[in-house]
Amino acid sequence: MKNYSDYPDDSAPYSRTRRPIKKRKRLKLRLIITALLVLTIGGITIDSNTRIQVEYPVIQVAKPLGSFDGYSVAVVSDVHNKQFGRESEKLLRLISDAKPDMIAVTGDLIDGKGQIPRAVELAKKLLEIAPVYFISGNHEFATKEHRDLFQALRDIGVVVLRNQIDRIYAEGDSGEHITIVGIDDPQGPADMKTPAQVFAQLTDDDRAGLVLTLVHRNFYLRDFAPLGTDVILCGHAHGGVVRLPFLPQGIWAQTGFFPKETGGLFTYGSTSMYVSRGLGNVYGIPRFMNNPHLPVVILKGA
Ligand SMILES: [Fe+2]
Repeated sequence: MKNYSDYPDDSAPYSRTRRPIKKRKRLKLRLIITALLVLTIGGITIDSNTRIQVEYPVIQVAKPLGSFDGYSVAVVSDVHNKQFGRESEKLLRLISDAKPDMIAVTGDLIDGKGQIPRAVELAKKLLEIAPVYFISGNHEFATKEHRDLFQALRDIGVVVLRNQIDRIYAEGDSGEHITIVGIDDPQGPADMKTPAQVFAQLTDDDRAGLVLTLVHRNFYLRDFAPLGTDVILCGHAHGGVVRLPFLPQGIWAQTGFFPKETGGLFTYGSTSMYVSRGLGNVYGIPRFMNNPHLPVVILKGA
């Protein structure tokens, strides 16, 4: 018969019970870490898709702007039929608080069939705040309901520019004005005017003042600058959808991975382009660390 002292290590009989305790502890720790990660990522994702970030970027224009110095434009881009609060009251309150001189809706207001009534309701409320200008995005044309949308917006007083220009005059009879150039998305009719043909309609008088171009996509800075625009306002890229602190341009846009110039101010010569990161979502892909974006640009003259 063996004595206890025959065992080389008297802890050996207990090792079978100690291991499961360690395992259970490790499992508990893993569960806690996983839960914290899920909560953190979930919290950031909810915030990234619901809390609107308002910005007031100043765009310096290389011309005197006279009465229009300090003119402000709220850029409402890429709504994609999304609502912020009941009937978008959160978005409307933020725009109203910003007191813009003009609201530019730069495309992708809708992205599916049957969405026109909601878009028109939003536009009606925007019109109570400031004059509203609208240009098409790629998704309006994709719905095939674009003509009905454009007409419905015109009927309530929105200025829908389809490769057209419009002038906003200062009070009084000085004739001082700024010129808005509205470019249709290339997804539109094949026989539409080219941007060069649209810009060719600008008079010398127009070119002496501010020329403000509204276009949906974010990659026309180098094409449009030589045509004589001072400022371009656009959206389309949704800020690259997923943004990480070490990747300033985001991960994905409809043009592919790691797109460039997806949000913020870019310049080429004397032309500035401000890219909104948009408000809604494309193809239902949630944003991450890239909140819905409401830029209210302030135009300052030389
Ligand atoms: Fe979009």
